[in-house]
Amino acid sequence: MKVLIAVNAYMKNKSQIAQSERIAEELTARGALAEIKKNFNLAEIENSSVKAEKYGFCVFLDKDKVAARLLEKSGLRLFNSAAAVEVCDDKMLTNIALANGGFNIPDCVYAPLCYHGDSNINEEFLHGTVQKLKFPLVAKTNYGSLGAGVVLIKNFNELANYEKKNLTAPHFYQKFIDCGCGEDIRVIVIGGKAVCAMKRRNLTDFRSNIELGGKGENYCLTPKLASLCEGVAESLKLDYCGVDILTDKNGEFYVCEVNSNAFFAAAERVCGINIAGRYAEYMLNKINSI
Ligand SMILES: Nc1ncnc2c1ncn2[C@@H]1O[C@H](COP(=O)(O)OP(=O)(O)O)[C@@H](O)[C@H]1O
Ligand SMILES: [Mg+2]
Repeated sequence: MKVLIAVNAYMKNKSQIAQSERIAEELTARGALAEIKKNFNLAEIENSSVKAEKYGFCVFLDKDKVAARLLEKSGLRLFNSAAAVEVCDDKMLTNIALANGGFNIPDCVYAPLCYHGDSNINEEFLHGTVQKLKFPLVAKTNYGSLGAGVVLIKNFNELANYEKKNLTAPHFYQKFIDCGCGEDIRVIVIGGKAVCAMKRRNLTDFRSNIELGGKGENYCLTPKLASLCEGVAESLKLDYCGVDILTDKNGEFYVCEVNSNAFFAAAERVCGINIAGRYAEYMLNKINSI
């Protein structure tokens, strides 16, 4: 079976390249013909319908929602689906999707959209936000990964500066879940099953991302943690994901974010699990059972 692995058209991050190659390797080991392709011209609208080359399925390693929807409309099964990728790409849409679902998520205040960069910041909105979330609070752009769009804000001056700088970028503010240092648990879920957990800790930054110096270690996947993350994946209809979990000082779990294209190299290394192999197996079984 021919399998398309779609990667971003401008991909240059080494981890992204390695991710696609590992999945290709494990699909090939199971008899598939895996083709890694940059995500441009893979599907087009022609004579009023969407045309694309035929594949058994597509491993969609990009976040480009338009490309995902085009490929899906051509009849291709995407792992993950276009809708799931879209919801996970936008952290606030993820929070909205999970809210009312029985999952603990940190309190969030969404910043109203502003279309004019020269507008004054809305101080009434900022004061209301501080009243709800207190300092320190966390600011996040809706789109962002590897910790890049996440900032800890300690006072009103920092908040006003952040708001001014990000006025026209979709963003939101979130309650800071204090656990003493930059720490979270990354849980990988494949086909509805949590397969491993990695604790990430950074002693010099409140963000635990490996790319910012966080150190990963194998973490015990308790039934409570596994069922929380499996519930999250099911609720967002994800075939594969990495769920980031924060733990407060009382040991309470909070869903921080959900990554539809979570890098797995560090988790494979520290947990000793063949994540790419399990994902390849899951996708092939799923397609062969249709
Ligand atoms: N509300 C929060 N309270 C405490 N720490 C947080 C909070 N949100 C994020 N962090 C820290 O910042 C890191 C990056 O945030 P995250 O939302 O996962 O963004 P990214 O997509 O950039 O990884 C998290 O892994 C966690 O260590
Ligand atoms: Mg994260």
